[in-house]
Amino acid sequence: MIVPIILYGSSVLRKRSVEVTPDDNIREMGELLLDTVKKADGIGLAAPQINLLKRIIVIDTSPIIEESDEKYESVLINPEIVDYEDDLTIYKEGCLSFPGIFEEIYRPDTIYVKYQDLSFNIHEEKLNGIKSRIFQHEFDHLNGILFIDKMEIIKRNLLRGKLNRIRKASLLQKI
Ligand code: CO
Repeated sequence: MIVPIILYGSSVLRKRSVEVTPDDNIREMGELLLDTVKKADGIGLAAPQINLLKRIIVIDTSPIIEESDEKYESVLINPEIVDYEDDLTIYKEGCLSFPGIFEEIYRPDTIYVKYQDLSFNIHEEKLNGIKSRIFQHEFDHLNGILFIDKMEIIKRNLLRGKLNRIRKASLLQKI
């Protein structure tokens, strides 16, 4: 099942999501997120983007990685960034809550993360490259942080018209 993706402008995207507990129906939430990100041809999605203020994100690199053995698809519960290195990289990011907007954003390449899987097993990993990039972008959503917050002010100002159009469209969304 797919659900609408909340657009920039909605206050939901600025809220902090709460920890997931074993009482939550995480399999259903994970499935909704994965179905929705695939339908939208995205590479990552966070629960607040489908109006669920829970700490769940999904990563699906299949739209951008051709080699099947390097593809990564995962539902990550209660993700945390434990540490990061100062190896900043630049990458042109988009966000499904900001249709049509792509902008270069600086983030560390190497991060050390912790999360739980759908069985609540704890994983600790070192990530870099695209997985690290998506993890950081989606993790930010759980704290109400959006990629426009990380843009250089001058670039963000140039996008003002586009951002206003998305904000207006968000007013028409029924959530
Ligand atoms: Co996003």
